This record gives sequence, C-alpha cells and structure tokens, in this order.
Amino acid sequence: MSEKCQTCPSSTCSAKERRDGENDQAYQLRQRMAERMCAVHHKVLVLSGKGGVGKTTVAVNIAAALARAGKRVGLLDADMHGPSVPRLLGLEGREAVVKDGAVVPVEAEGGLKVMSIGFLLGREPDTAIIWRGPVKIGLIRQFLADVAWGELDYLVIDCPPGTGDEPITLVQSLEDADGAVVVTTPQEVAVSDVRRSLRFCQKVGLKVLGIVENMSGFLCPHCGERVDIFRSGGGRRLAKATGVPFLGAIPVEPDITIASDVGKPYVNLGANSPASRAFDEVVSSILKLDDGLATAQGESA
Ligand SMILES: Nc1ncnc2c1ncn2[C@@H]1O[C@H](COP(=O)(O)OP(=O)(O)O)[C@@H](O)[C@H]1O
Ligand code: SF4
Ligand SMILES: [Mg+2]
Repeated sequence: MSEKCQTCPSSTCSAKERRDGENDQAYQLRQRMAERMCAVHHKVLVLSGKGGVGKTTVAVNIAAALARAGKRVGLLDADMHGPSVPRLLGLEGREAVVKDGAVVPVEAEGGLKVMSIGFLLGREPDTAIIWRGPVKIGLIRQFLADVAWGELDYLVIDCPPGTGDEPITLVQSLEDADGAVVVTTPQEVAVSDVRRSLRFCQKVGLKVLGIVENMSGFLCPHCGERVDIFRSGGGRRLAKATGVPFLGAIPVEPDITIASDVGKPYVNLGANSPASRAFDEVVSSILKLDDGLATAQGESA
C-alpha cells in the first residue's frame, strides 16, 4: 500500500481491507486500482445501446472540450474489439511505452491523456481482435490500475456498444463513477436500444447523467432548412418519459465526419455552428460535476 494510502484517514475505502477469499494478486490489483483512481476526481462513462450512433465521436469531443475548458482529462477507450479513439484523435500507429512499472498514456492535442488497446497492438492495428470475456475484464482492470493517469479532473470512458463485460467491469471497479452519458440517434429503433442501456444503469446502480441525441437533423448548408434524416426528438422524448436529463441534440454535420477522418476533435476546429453549440451544451452539464452541482440541474426535458 502506498504511503498516501497508509496515512489516508478514509475508513471506508475499499483499498484498505482484504476481502474474504481474495488472493494476494486480486487484492494488490484492487489496491493499485483504488490508488490510481483516487487521483481521478470524476469518472464519466459514455454508453450506447448499439454501434454507429456516434458514441466515440461524442466521447472524444466531450474529452477535448473538457480539456479546452482547462480541465486535466484522460480518455480511456474501453472498446477492445473496435478501438477507434486513436483514429479519431490522429494517434493511429502510436505505441504506448512502459515507464516505472506503469503504461504511459499517449498524449493528444490539448494535453489529453489517451489509452486504448490500439496502442498495445504494435504494427497490426487492424487485426481482428477476439478477446474472451476474462481477458477483456483483466485488460479493463489493468487500464485502471496500471496506466499512469496521474491527477485528473475527468476520466472519460468510451465503452463498446451494449451492456457486456466492459461496462460491467468498469462499474464494478469504479465504485465512485459519476455516471453515464447515453448516446442515441433519434429514430425509434435506436431509442429502444437506449432503453436497454438505461435499464442496465439502473440494475448496476450507475447514475444516468443524461441522454445525448446525435445525428439529430441536418441543416442544409445551401438553404439552411432542417431535414430530419433520422427523424428527430426520439432521445428527448425518451428522456422526458424516463425522467432522465436531456443533455443536447447534435445535428448531422459533415465537418464532424471530416474531423474524424483527419483525426482532430470537431470541437477543436473552433467552428461556430449548431453542432459546436450542441457540444457546448452537453459539456456544460458535465462541467457542473466539477463545480459540485448536480447534473440533474441540466435541462430535464
Ligand atoms: N453528428 C454527426 N455528424 C456527422 N457525422 C457524424 C456525427 N456523429 C458521428 N459521425 C460519424 O459517424 C461515424 C461513426 O461514429 P462513431 O463515433 O465511430 O460511432 P460509434 O462509436 O457509436 O460506433 C464516424 O465516421 C463519425 O465521424
Ligand atoms: S485509495 Fe485513496 S481513499 Fe483509499 S486509502 Fe488510498 S488514498 Fe485513501
Ligand atoms: Mg465507437
């Protein structure tokens, strides 16, 4: 146990006591995890019911916007099968190094500290990765315990779609996670997947910070008229029906796709657009966590 833990007055921290039946290895891992995460003030998971709704885009832009607001931010790519955070941040091909017994996160624009399985795959980033459950669970725990995150205001975690091993392990390992941002697209079928994510949060005791509706309408660049390609309002209606805060609606914006392709967070482009204002709205709710205000004070649609 570290010196910090030995002198820490906390009487409730799980790092201190060995659990019944816990072997040395499990106890030490749990201690390292608690110590490491103790220096991270807020942990926010980004979830979605299914893939392709823009969850990684939302996670990357939330993290970048928090860093722009002067926060110390880490971004953990918890998607073991399709890690796309490195690509969206222009960090493809980078390899993480180990220093003093810990993996050093790769630094992105704005001082963002990033970790992804993509940085550990060497020169084969496109390898089809088939991890079995226990291996994924072990990797996730090591991402929390053995990465040199340092002191952070926020750790944003991009979870794979659905409610599998990764989010469950994260919730069990992060006893004090602030909650989840749930991303959906507006159409009803996507919204029904989100209901599953909400039920998951309820079951594992994870607070829902709110719903983000992505790809919410398209503003024609020629005439300015709004076209609801995937319909609109499904996320907002669901938020209202379930009493969960609605954090914002991000329109389809061609520059978001371009930004992803060139590996730059959209919010760092400095655009003054409906999409950038929508991201500001989403992030303002998350910044309230650090101001000690409840996110529930965000818009409750
Ligand atoms: N609001 C948006 N406008 C335009 N393109 C978007 C938007 N949100 C996401 N995209 C694009 O959609 C694709 C899938 O997004 P991604 O974040 O990887 O989805 P997920 O993580 O949910 O699978 C990416 O190419 C991304 O650039
Ligand atoms: S992990 Fe943090 S709260 Fe727990 S004993 Fe160590 S310093 Fe104290
Ligand atoms: Mg993704």
